[in-house]
Amino acid sequence: MTGDITAFTGDAIVNAANSTLLGGGGVDGAIHTAAGSQLLEACRTLGGCREGESKITPGFDLRSKHVIHTVGPYWEGGNHDESTILASCYQSSLELATRHDVRSIAFPAISCGVYGYPVDAASVVAICTTIDFLGSNDIPREVIFICFDESIHNAYVQALKNQS
Ligand code: APR
Repeated sequence: MTGDITAFTGDAIVNAANSTLLGGGGVDGAIHTAAGSQLLEACRTLGGCREGESKITPGFDLRSKHVIHTVGPYWEGGNHDESTILASCYQSSLELATRHDVRSIAFPAISCGVYGYPVDAASVVAICTTIDFLGSNDIPREVIFICFDESIHNAYVQALKNQS
């Protein structure tokens, strides 16, 4: 679906953060703005996050109970393990969701903004990793990809079609 992930009312939203976890622009900036200053305070206690890994905080002023912060790969042409790292972002976020009994989770298009990952390729990684994970895990029950514009949404629709 298209929209603003900060308006998601399910259990958790995923933030496309950087390794400091201390906020930034894009969806990171939007989530920190909507969650309020307590989110930054909570992130300060986490000691950062490595690429491909994920950490969880409360959602504070957000409608979602949790924020799962993950750090996507910066696109350097595709020969620097970008797809492996991106898949690990989805995998580690979903594993955290399972551990915290998150029933519904929304992802932005991780790495497809500032980090420059081509959306067509990134959407295939997102869809494939998620379908594989849900094939062997009952929780989360609902995974939503919230696309900020039509071009991203079209890429996800195409990736989903190619998987079915
Ligand atoms: N809701 C949903 N999606 C959004 C929103 C929003 N409110 N705002 C931006 N997006 C989309 C972008 O259009 C893009 O498709 O999120 C996707 C990820 O883009 P970025 O936010 O730029 O994230 P990323 O490419 O992973 O780069 C991360 O940017 O903001 C900094 O601190 C962040 O250093 C980190 C880097």
